[in-house]
Amino acid sequence: MTTMESLIGLVNRIQRACTVLGDYGGGDNTFSSLWEALPSVAVVGGQSSGKSSVLESIVGRDFLPRGSGIVTRRPLVLQLHKTDEGSQEYAEFLHMPKRRFTDFGAVRHEIQEETERITGRTKQISPVPIHLSIYSPNVVNLTLIDLPGLTKVAVEGQSETIVQDIETMVRSYVEKPNSIILAISPANQDIATSDAIKLAREVDPSGERTFGVLTKLDLMDKGTNALDVLEGRSYRLQYPWVGIVNRSQADINKNVDMIVARRKEREYFATSPDYGHLASKMGSEYLAKLLSQHLESVIRARIPSITSLINKSIDELESEMDHLGRPIALDAGAQLYTVLEVCRAFERIFKEHLDGGRPGGDR
Ligand code: GDP
Ligand code: NA
Ligand code: MG
Repeated sequence: MTTMESLIGLVNRIQRACTVLGDYGGGDNTFSSLWEALPSVAVVGGQSSGKSSVLESIVGRDFLPRGSGIVTRRPLVLQLHKTDEGSQEYAEFLHMPKRRFTDFGAVRHEIQEETERITGRTKQISPVPIHLSIYSPNVVNLTLIDLPGLTKVAVEGQSETIVQDIETMVRSYVEKPNSIILAISPANQDIATSDAIKLAREVDPSGERTFGVLTKLDLMDKGTNALDVLEGRSYRLQYPWVGIVNRSQADINKNVDMIVARRKEREYFATSPDYGHLASKMGSEYLAKLLSQHLESVIRARIPSITSLINKSIDELESEMDHLGRPIALDAGAQLYTVLEVCRAFERIFKEHLDGGRPGGDR
């Protein structure tokens, strides 16, 4: 692994440990401020625009409930941890720390069950996030948050306030200055009506933390194309738009697997008369790389503030450890040690490799 990869990996581990410790001690504490200082990617867009599908493509695994209507009903905080080549891929939920999932179908099932544990088998939503970590040699180090889709009207079985409730929930994630916005719009609808772009424009008017993603290119009317959007003429963002072709519902029903889907997506762009010239900058694999690179540069730029926060945390954690002594619950105690160890490792790697503290030193 490169130095940057290990730094991002450490940031990931700090975030995970902070999540565990966030509850313990309650609300505003060292851990929540540390978490807030670290970047994560929030996936936003209208209902059925393809958010969960894009997330799955980035991970390269089938594990999310997807489909028409309101499927994602609680935020899913998904942490990807890159592991050594050849190691076995597995997933772990924060609410079931003892169980390692190697069957990703079972992960999907558990997300559904855990959603229903809070909301019941309804069309209601809950702001209480589900935390899932995936450990794999095939992922890039990233924290991604899947969110319920923005809607316009309440449907049967939903409260009248649902439209506003979803927007409030999504907004609470994207308004944080450290949040990177993955704004998903479907190509078969006019970009001027995109819920994702509307919200992104409000919370990030300069477009400096918004990545525009255009899904469903394969579903556009014959004779039309999305070049005006993809080439930045319709709505300009600081980063180039990325076009995506996810699996259709028919593909999902036929169990077309991820590897096949990625290959088909590559072929789609490579052979497209409209998008052939953009092929190397399109598709889910490219998007995953782009996000990881962006995260890297964000972390690099924030290294000074992260290290000073970490230094502060180390002091606070040490006194907290002294203070708590033995009676602390085993789990929380172990997590405290993890944060402490990881913070120390972060500091050490940073000092050793990144040119004595100058941000951007190892470019
Ligand atoms: P979400 O509600 O935004 O999370 O959207 P989902 O990922 O659940 O997708 C909604 C539906 O649209 C599913 O049936 C997907 O198969 C389908 N879908 C998503 N992206 C694409 C795409 O690029 N092309 C096609 N043909 N279908 C897509
Ligand atoms: Na959906
Ligand atoms: Mg979804």
